[in-house]
Amino acid sequence: MKQTVLVTGASSGLGKSISFHLHSLGYTVIGTSRSPHKYTDLPFPLLALDLSSQASIDLFFAELATKTNRLDVLVNNAGVGITGAVEEMNLNALRSHFDTNFFGPLAMVQQALPIMRSAGKGKIINITSIGASMGLPFRGGYSASKGALQLISEALRMEVAQFGIEICTLAPGDYATDIASRRYYEPNKKGSPYEAIYQESLSTMDEHVDDGNDPIEIAKAVAGYIQKNKLRPHYAVGPFMQRLSLTMKKILPQKIFERMLKNHYNL
Ligand SMILES: NC(=O)c1ccc[n+]([C@@H]2O[C@H](COP(=O)([O-])OP(=O)(O)OC[C@H]3O[C@@H](n4cnc5c(N)ncnc54)[C@H](OP(=O)(O)O)[C@@H]3O)[C@@H](O)[C@H]2O)c1
Repeated sequence: MKQTVLVTGASSGLGKSISFHLHSLGYTVIGTSRSPHKYTDLPFPLLALDLSSQASIDLFFAELATKTNRLDVLVNNAGVGITGAVEEMNLNALRSHFDTNFFGPLAMVQQALPIMRSAGKGKIINITSIGASMGLPFRGGYSASKGALQLISEALRMEVAQFGIEICTLAPGDYATDIASRRYYEPNKKGSPYEAIYQESLSTMDEHVDDGNDPIEIAKAVAGYIQKNKLRPHYAVGPFMQRLSLTMKKILPQKIFERMLKNHYNL
């Protein structure tokens, strides 16, 4: 029997690439989008899902149950970016960001687990970010939401191992997708002391995403994890220097690591 893989945010970027790749390998792929009617030419079905709404998540699982009674893998991919100086961040925007990047994926996990538990197996791959392991300047909200997803995945992994369910996170570095153009941008307050440095940091961030790697790398990594017997808690995939930063964060004195990050962002 073909494994059924649910990929959230399959209309664009990494999720689209993951879905195409898994479909080409013969998996039964079910994708999601907030506006599935806009994408009529995909070789796999797209169901409606808005992670910022519990009602939408409940409806989604009700619709899924009418299509299949199996769910072998959940790839919790959908997510959004947010930028802004922490001091000036609109907290309602940040709450809504956490709904999409943290509470939504968590609600997906909560509804996927009973299905997987009754099958005695399953895999959940939570897409985080290399920025989940370090507070990135002017992306503190994003680092926080992805960091929260990363930490709760560690806890969850130990809780559900007894049911034969494997959990891991996959932290991408920069990949060329539409994420930068869709991210929430917190404008500076009038006379903001952050204005110049924030704008400069934004240009650096956008350049990194535009020059990012091909999303197929993430798709191939996901396919590899699906085929593995045992998953590690965390994986990172991306440009060498970005992966190296994770090791440097662990081994360098904190002051030195912070200086490196500040140099990188010209702070
Ligand atoms: N690209 C990178 O460099 C990079 C780096 C690190 C981590 N990531 C993470 O990788 C994941 C995919 O990002 P991407 O780069 O592929 O971005 P993208 O091209 O903007 O795609 C984002 C996907 O998420 C879906 N989505 C957005 N808001 C949603 C919501 N409220 N409910 C349900 N679905 C929603 C979108 O679908 P609809 O608009 O059709 O609903 C879209 O399919 C994200 O979690 C992101 O944080 C990306």
